[in-house]
Order: sequence, then structure tokens, then C-alpha cells
Amino acid sequence: EQLYADDIEAILRLKQQHNAVILAHNYQTPEIFHCVADIRGDSLALARAAQDVEADVIVIAGVHFMAETAKLLNPEKTVLIPDAAAGCSLAEGITEADVLALKQANPGVPVVTYVNSSAAVKAQSDICCTSGNAKRVVESLGVPRVIMIPDEFLARNIEAETGIEMITWPAHCEVHERFTPQEIRQYRRVHPGVTVMAHPECPPAVLAEADCAGSTAQMSEYIRAHNPEKILLVTECSMSDNLSVEFPETEFVRPCNLCAHMKRITLATIRRALETMQTQVSIPPDIAANARRAVERMLAV
Ligand code: 13P
Ligand code: SF4
Repeated sequence: EQLYADDIEAILRLKQQHNAVILAHNYQTPEIFHCVADIRGDSLALARAAQDVEADVIVIAGVHFMAETAKLLNPEKTVLIPDAAAGCSLAEGITEADVLALKQANPGVPVVTYVNSSAAVKAQSDICCTSGNAKRVVESLGVPRVIMIPDEFLARNIEAETGIEMITWPAHCEVHERFTPQEIRQYRRVHPGVTVMAHPECPPAVLAEADCAGSTAQMSEYIRAHNPEKILLVTECSMSDNLSVEFPETEFVRPCNLCAHMKRITLATIRRALETMQTQVSIPPDIAANARRAVERMLAV
């Protein structure tokens, strides 16, 4: 506890000293999420917030692609990722060359790229999406067929929701792909009456067992709106930890999987980032210009 207090005090002081803000994803641990973050949310909320940040320095308490998105929207600001190795199995699951090959094989079909991707992959795309706006983004294109990358399960889940045909790529979130329908059925047996909400990065067979699906921000919105007695959030572990602070009346049933990438960010690494101004995110200008266009197009939908 004393260790946390020292780090928290130092981080609050360093933020002031450097005119810095901390943007924290919903999968960050409670001491980061509740004690030092200035802006909290899902990938979409963090991208939107990054558009309006007034500070000189942005620290991303999240993974590398989130820091890249913040840098795309703030090329003149210093964007720090406290641990540059905080990656993502989706972002690492596809390369720029893979996208070029998909485009060549499917000429004229628009490319919708999940924000969980590198800037180089975004730069080859027509538009980006997050799990919170994927349906809206795909429908906004007004076409019967899209290339939706890199998350195969998100694409299949959105295909089922919209009827729009998806050309997919076999990359998965290493956290959400581990959930199984059997596991959900077992939790329902042990906790009768529980509401089950699954993240759309889960396999379609898991979504079929859930009462509803949504991004991490949509999970909070659901609880705020419906006040369920018991809820099972089929997602990363910190989600329920953070929400149980906000909603003490709700019982959180916790089958969860940890994201080792998200967990690379700690109070200690955030403190070190602010002390050393490392690691700064940089994106080559030609890649940045095209990637920014795809992200801005998404934000305009
Ligand atoms: P959202 O917060 O946008 O739902 O994304 C979940 C996720 O896995 C981010 O890495
Ligand atoms: Fe990537 Fe999944 Fe971790 Fe999110 S939870 S950063 S999608 S590996």
C-alpha cells in the first residue's frame, strides 16, 4: 500500500510538472484506473479523448496500438507508452503485406480495420472501427461486402448482426478466444439469473450463449442503465474489478482471462515514463498521414 502511495504521489506531481494527462483503458488495474488516470474508457473513448487533449504530454495506460492512435491524432505532442512491449495479438496478427494481398485478391472491396492494428496496417485501410462502433462503421459504407481485419471473430459477429458479408483474416484476441460456450453454461448453472454480457472479440459460439454483447464501455453503460443484480462480463479481468468499485450493489461473477500486455503497465512503469519521458511513440510521416485518414474517417461516422 505504501509503495502504491509513493508512486501515486510521484505520478500526480510529475503530471503537473510536465503538463501531462494519463489516458487509461478499462483493462488497467484499479490503482491505475481509479487513482492516476485522467480519462478512462474503451478504445473508442480514448481515441475520441485523444482528439481533444490540451496537455503537452499524453501517457497511454494501455497497449501500443492505443498509443499509436493517440500519436496519429496528436502528431505535435509527446505520446508515451510506459512499456513499449505492451502489444496485442490482434495487432501482431497481420502485416501491411497481408492487407495488400487481401486488397489484390478482392479489388474494390473496402477495408475496415479494427483499431487493434499497427499504423502501417491502418494506412492501407479505408476506415477504422472499434468494437463500440463496428456495426455503425460497416453499415455506413452502404456495400454488401467488406474486408474486415484483423479480428476474425469480431468480423463474424458483425456479419451476423448486419448481414453484410465479411472477408476475414484469421487473427484473434488471445484473451477472448479462450472463453468457451461450455464455461458460460456452467456459470449459468452455478449462478441462476445471472446476466451474461460478452465482448465481441469472443468466438461467435460464446456470443450465442450471452444475453448481450458490447465493447468495454458498453458493458459499463449496460450496468448503469439496467442495474442487474448479478452480471458476468466475458472479458479481461480488470473490467469487473474496476466496475465493482463503481457499482457496489451489483454482484460480479468473474470468469475472466488476463491480458498480459495490458498488465505490463503498472504504477512503476507509468512513473518511470514520466520521469524519463520514455518510450515516445513515433510514426513515419507517410504512414501517419494515411493511417490518420482512416482513424479520422471512423471518428466522423
Ligand atoms: P474495447 O475497450 O474497445 O471494447 O476493446 C477491448 C480490447 O480488447 C482492447 O484491447
Ligand atoms: Fe489485444 Fe486482447 Fe489484450 Fe485487448 S485484450 S490488448 S485485444 S490481446
